[in-house]
Amino acid sequence: MKPIDPLAIELNEVIREQAPNLFQSLSALGKELYFPKGILTQTAEAKQLAYRYNATIGMATLRGRPLYLRSLRKYIKHLKPEETFPYAPTTGIMELRLLWRDHQCMTNPGLEGKSTSLPVVTNGLTHGLSIMADMFCDAGDCLLLPEKMWGNYRMIFATRRGAELHTYPFYDEGGRFNVKGFYRSLLAASRRGKVIMLLNFPHNPTGYTPYPVEATSIRDAITEVAESGVNLVVGVDDAYAGLLYENDLYPESLFSLLADCHPRVTAIKIDGPTKEDYVWGFRLGFITFSHLEGENSEAVYSALEKKVGGLIRGTISKSSTPSQSLLSKAIKSVGYHDEKTENYQLLRDRYEEVKRVVSQERFAEAFSPYPFNSGYFLCLRVHGVNAERLRRHLLEAYGVGVVATDDTDLRIAYSCLEKEQISDLFDILYKAVEEMKESDKRPYEETNERARL
Ligand SMILES: Cc1ncc(COP(=O)(O)O)c(C=O)c1O
Repeated sequence: MKPIDPLAIELNEVIREQAPNLFQSLSALGKELYFPKGILTQTAEAKQLAYRYNATIGMATLRGRPLYLRSLRKYIKHLKPEETFPYAPTTGIMELRLLWRDHQCMTNPGLEGKSTSLPVVTNGLTHGLSIMADMFCDAGDCLLLPEKMWGNYRMIFATRRGAELHTYPFYDEGGRFNVKGFYRSLLAASRRGKVIMLLNFPHNPTGYTPYPVEATSIRDAITEVAESGVNLVVGVDDAYAGLLYENDLYPESLFSLLADCHPRVTAIKIDGPTKEDYVWGFRLGFITFSHLEGENSEAVYSALEKKVGGLIRGTISKSSTPSQSLLSKAIKSVGYHDEKTENYQLLRDRYEEVKRVVSQERFAEAFSPYPFNSGYFLCLRVHGVNAERLRRHLLEAYGVGVVATDDTDLRIAYSCLEKEQISDLFDILYKAVEEMKESDKRPYEETNERARL
């Protein structure tokens, strides 16, 4: 039997004790569900205590308020009743689906001439990922992921669908994407005959995007395994699309390389405006398929769309009409692209500042950054102290909120820091590490001193 998370066991105990009949009525999934700790709990704590800097959340802010596009804001008050109140079609408003396809093609020229479905509207990227899981993942299926990953994949694929997680180290010794590790784990997983995987670049939590040679090696490994007779389902999570801050990175979604790449590869692009258009609360996303097999891919896409439609109808029924109307209007609006460039530039300036500050030699004994070049975040490896204890110390002593992703690493969302705050934040981090090292040393020194006396 699959082990149940200790948090689910705690909840089950409460229900079993208070309401045994209700407990008996729960489904197997109902018994396995829990509300994850980790980032969500740490963000909630930071909301209360991080009076100085809150670098925990996957949003972008400016002077303490959410960053937004004026093209969206200006329409919020001016939607017509028919753009606001009626149901939207189950798979989304057609105009928006077409506009999003244009956007995908414009930002990913490599998709030209490739066969892809029309994007279906989802209720955010999380929903798109859960559609992928429902459609392609059975209990016991293998899900290949890097060790550093967005934690919610566990809930979506493992808890809800029973996937078995197989992981590979994210970086190689040179600090690049671990192509060899990926290839080795993929080969091992492929013995099952079917592999599901998720590729997410710019990456949460590290903020890393591969270089072109790494991107093509990922594609080559996938096609090689497909060629050996294994079916692969590859989800491309493009939550942070477009936020690339170095010029020599692979400039498109990996979907451009994976679309049409082999008849045994089903590539699924999960994307949306959540981060791309700074609309975290709109709850909009898209799911798009690419599969190269048989004569009539349009018939396959149409069948897949109907299945996705059935799933949406049987879960959330449809996505929000006002959000879809607003996004359509914004995309067509004259200032839209310029405003996106403005926000991008703001984040890029913060990235440059983080890069400048974090590379200072004096920090090296306290922490070192993992390679990062894109997105909202960077991760630090802290030296000589436990990352979770450091997180609590930062919160309690300095009002600074960051996320501890495990015992050694911190994730910092510089998307939520003003450029002028960045240097101060790293100084505080350094000071906090040194203080903890000092206080950890003290009892040891005192014991030694007593032993000498
Ligand atoms: C990698 C990644 N994928 C998906 C999501 C979820 O996006 P949404 O809020 O649209 O569900 C996030 C959000 O933080 C993310 O970091």
